[in-house]
Amino acid sequence: MSAPALSFVHRFEPAVRPGPPPVLLLHGTGGDETDLIPLGRTVAPGAALLSPRGKVLEGGMPRFFRRLAEGVFDEDDLRRRADELAGFVDQARKAYGLSAPVALGFSNGANIAAAMLLLRPDAFAGAILIRAMEPFREASPVRLPGTPVLILSGSADPIVPIDNPKRLAATLAAAGAAVEHEILPGGHALIQADLVRSRAWMDRLAAG
Ligand code: MLT
Repeated sequence: MSAPALSFVHRFEPAVRPGPPPVLLLHGTGGDETDLIPLGRTVAPGAALLSPRGKVLEGGMPRFFRRLAEGVFDEDDLRRRADELAGFVDQARKAYGLSAPVALGFSNGANIAAAMLLLRPDAFAGAILIRAMEPFREASPVRLPGTPVLILSGSADPIVPIDNPKRLAATLAAAGAAVEHEILPGGHALIQADLVRSRAWMDRLAAG
């Protein structure tokens, strides 16, 4: 389907079967809107896929928000960009006739999805956050009653020390989200277990 002119360059694949919720794919640093399409097809077969390209460039590599150093976020920029991306999701939902999506984010994409959960709690029907970090040093109180969230971390991730996603899981759970946090035997890169866990979680979600 040719993409209408919305506020982010993006790819959209319409649903080919009823049931699974639409999926918002959020790539990592240096990725683009095509990157996670195969992951989306594997995790949520037949679901509508919406995949924007991050607007921030770091040495030519697209990201969703600025950082000051690896793992050190420009939180003002992150707040602005999370709002901007939530605006895109609203636009795309109207343009394509979608219900609230489940976010599926990797690394930088997981981090902006986590920020959106905390800033715009109605944006998502749920989220899979792969190699996510806590996005804010201090998060404002938010209510996420029952929002399903799967966090997948790597036990040997050199970018995300394991205490960090544990804090994120605790913050989201304290807000009322139904959080599952799994620590997989891996580093920062995607591994097969991410696909298997994400697919099983999505199947359960789609089955209601
Ligand atoms: C980030 O900046 O979001 C994290 O450091 C992950 C990354 O993009 O490498």
